[in-house]
Amino acid sequence: MDILRVDPADQTQVRACHEIEVAAHEADCPEMPHMSFPVFAAMITSGWIGDPREMWLAADGSGYCGLELPERENRHLAMLDLTVRPDLRRRGAGTALFNFITKRAVELGRSALSTEAWEGSGGMEFARYVRFKPGIAEVRRVLRVGAPGAGGSAPAVATPGYSMVSWTGATPGAKLEQVAAVMAMLEDAPRDASMEAERWDSERVRLTDRRAAAQRLRYYSVAAVKGEWRGTGRWEGGGELAALSQLGVDPERPNWGWQELTAVARAHRGHRLGMAVKVAMLDLLSRAEPQLEWILTWNAEENSHMIAINEALGFKVLGEPRRSWEREI
Ligand SMILES: CC(C)(COP(=O)(O)OP(=O)(O)OC[C@H]1O[C@@H](n2cnc3c(N)ncnc32)[C@H](O)[C@@H]1OP(=O)(O)O)[C@@H](O)C(=O)NCCC(=O)NCCS
Repeated sequence: MDILRVDPADQTQVRACHEIEVAAHEADCPEMPHMSFPVFAAMITSGWIGDPREMWLAADGSGYCGLELPERENRHLAMLDLTVRPDLRRRGAGTALFNFITKRAVELGRSALSTEAWEGSGGMEFARYVRFKPGIAEVRRVLRVGAPGAGGSAPAVATPGYSMVSWTGATPGAKLEQVAAVMAMLEDAPRDASMEAERWDSERVRLTDRRAAAQRLRYYSVAAVKGEWRGTGRWEGGGELAALSQLGVDPERPNWGWQELTAVARAHRGHRLGMAVKVAMLDLLSRAEPQLEWILTWNAEENSHMIAINEALGFKVLGEPRRSWEREI
C-alpha cells in the first residue's frame, strides 16, 4: 500500500481524510454529529492541547493514520489515530496502515502507542488483534438544553467569597499563568496508570486557544475567582482563579456545545465551585447561544465527582463508552 504524508496546505488530501472520518463516524457513532471540516482540518498538525501531530493517507483513499506526539510529558508515547472507510474494512488496510505508522513512531523515538476505540466496535476488536491492552473508559453524556429540569434541577448555587467571571475566545494575556495552574489540576482526574499527568504552562494555554481559534469555534470560559465585587462579569484586577469551565460551539453545528475542561483548584475544593461554574456557563449560553439544543461532555467512568455534577444538571449517558488502549512498540 502507498501511504502519503498529508500536507496540511493540500485541501484535496485534507478533504480525502475528512471524507474517511465522516463515513467512519456515521458507521461507528451516528448518535453524535461528526467533526466539521474546519474542526478536523485544524487537527492535522496540532492536537487538542497543542501537541504536534502528523497525518498519513493511504494513496487509494481507503484510510488514514496519524500520530500525536506529546512534548511536555509522555515523551515515550505516540497517540495513534487510525481509521479505515467502513466499506473497505476487513481487507487488511487497517493492518497495513498500523504496521507503517508503528515503524514511523519508532523512527520518531517513541516506545509505546496509545489509541482509543468505541466499546464493542471493530476498532476494539482490531486493538485486541494488534495486542493493545485496555485502559480506562470515557463515558459520553448529553444535556438536552431547555428540557424540563435541565440545569434548573440543580439547587441554586451560592458561592460566598467568590465572583463569577467569563470571557470569550483567547485567555486574557495577564491570566495565562493562573489558567495554566488550574489546567494542571487535571492531574487529579483519572487517567491510565502508565500516563504521566499533563504539564501546563502559559505557552500550552496559548496553543490550546490557538487550536480552538483554528477550528473556528466560538469558545467560552467561565471562572470562579476568589473575592467578591459587584459583578461586571469581567475578571478585573487581582483575584485568584479558583475554578474554570470551558466549552466550544462549532458555527457549523450551532445546536451542539462541546464541553471541554472543568477543574477546581485544590485549595478551593469543597465550595461547590464545580457546579457553580457549570450553572454559570449554562446561564451564559442561554444568552450567547440561544439556538443551542445539546451539550456533550465526556468523563472517565471513575470520575464520580464530575459525573455527580453532570447528572444533577440533567446530563444523560449517550451510546457506548470510548476506551483507551496501549502497547509497547
Ligand atoms: C480499526 C480499523 C482501522 C480496522 O481496519 P480494517 O481495515 O478493518 O483492519 P484489518 O482488515 O487489517 O483487520 C485486521 C484484523 O483485526 C480484527 N478485526 C478488525 N475488525 C474487526 C471486527 N469488526 N470484528 C472482529 N474482528 C475485527 C480481525 O482479526 C482482522 O483480521 P481478519 O479480518 O483476518 O479476521 C477500522 O475498524 C476502523 O476504522 N475503525 C474505526 C476507527 C477506530 O476504532 N480506530 C481504532 C484503531 S485501534
